[in-house]
Amino acid sequence: MGRMLDVDDLVAATANLFLTGSLSGKTLVITAGPTREAIDPVRYLSNHSSGKMGYALAQAAVEAGAKVKLISGPTHLPRPDRVERIDVVSAQDMFDACHAAVANCDIFIGAAAVADYRPASISSEKIKKDQQDSLNLQLIKNSDILASIAKLPNRPGFVMGFAAETQQLVEFAQEKLYKKNVDMIAANNVSSPEIGFNSDDNQITLITSTQVQELPRASKMALAQMIIARIAEEIH
Ligand code: CTP
Repeated sequence: MGRMLDVDDLVAATANLFLTGSLSGKTLVITAGPTREAIDPVRYLSNHSSGKMGYALAQAAVEAGAKVKLISGPTHLPRPDRVERIDVVSAQDMFDACHAAVANCDIFIGAAAVADYRPASISSEKIKKDQQDSLNLQLIKNSDILASIAKLPNRPGFVMGFAAETQQLVEFAQEKLYKKNVDMIAANNVSSPEIGFNSDDNQITLITSTQVQELPRASKMALAQMIIARIAEEIH
């Protein structure tokens, strides 16, 4: 009372006036952000994902009327309004949280930058540098969350993943579409610093088994709205 709302809250409330309802009645589970793979009690392996694209998609889906669960690795982002957020740390935590959340959901989006590998063992004590001049870490592959959800016998009706590539964008993304059994891949080139991982803008190509659609370069929020509109079209 008597104070102006935060601008972001005003924008979110105003945006409600333009709700499309294109996903009303649908439930959506989405992963976002990086994962952290512990090496010892103070160190981990991770990547540069900010979580911005996944959070923007979660918000756009809620604005389209969906009920949204956001399974998020560690990020600095606030929880989008009306989104249920489940916080996780490692790829294994994210895998477990996703499988616990997807029963009866209509749409699954894998937007997280899941670490592909984790240390084979986690040292229970801090590794000391005095004892060794070089350190060999043995890494083992993490399970692919997106593929594991897409291959469930009662999988969500629509499953979308991302493909972060530095070369041969469309070819590698098409390979992921078939190999992981997903309905759509949002491919983005992560070699350019103005777009991709930590930036606000992105450039995305949407790939299905029948179509390659290049979306215009735009803010992650604007792209998220375009992607959600496309998903709504696909499922209807
Ligand atoms: N993904 C996942 N679980 C993993 C690895 C990736 O769910 N263990 C998902 C990501 O969320 C994304 C998609 O798979 O939607 C593709 O991720 P990307 O890093 O582009 O590809 P990878 O499958 O990891 O293959 P590579 O790193 O060899 O390109």
